[in-house]
Amino acid sequence: MQLSVNGRRREVAYPDEMLVWVLRDELGLTGTHYGCGIGACGSCTVLLDGQVARACLTPARAAAGREVTTVEGLARGEQLHPVQRAFLENPLQCGWCLPGHLMSAAALLERTPSPTDAQIEEAAGVNLCRCGGYNAIRRAVARAAELKREDG
Ligand code: FES
Ligand code: FES
Repeated sequence: MQLSVNGRRREVAYPDEMLVWVLRDELGLTGTHYGCGIGACGSCTVLLDGQVARACLTPARAAAGREVTTVEGLARGEQLHPVQRAFLENPLQCGWCLPGHLMSAAALLERTPSPTDAQIEEAAGVNLCRCGGYNAIRRAVARAAELKREDG
């Protein structure tokens, strides 16, 4: 089976595996993290056609015919995505949750370029941070919205 991942067609040998393992083990895209395996923590968040999805609960087969975007696919060449630049300005602690927050923030800003504090809170809250870095995460998402608007 083939998947479209970060704009490239990729051959997948184990389509019944969960997407997180296909990405990490078959395709070498280890930026997608694994935490709980039960859809609770969000560290495995990827985008399917621009919508957030828990890769630990999504069989790879379910992503066929859709565009999969992982954290490795956010940057455009050397140009980091606004959410990446914003989190560099607002660093977290261990960073285990970071890929999930990046993907959730990227999806939020795509549909809501100027999110309210409540919308940021809601989007950030679906991904857990075991280090409790929620203040930095809120600041980073708000800053990412500014950077994205500046980019145009
Ligand atoms: S590893 Fe998927 S939600 Fe925690
Ligand atoms: S920074 Fe450690 S889990 Fe979020």
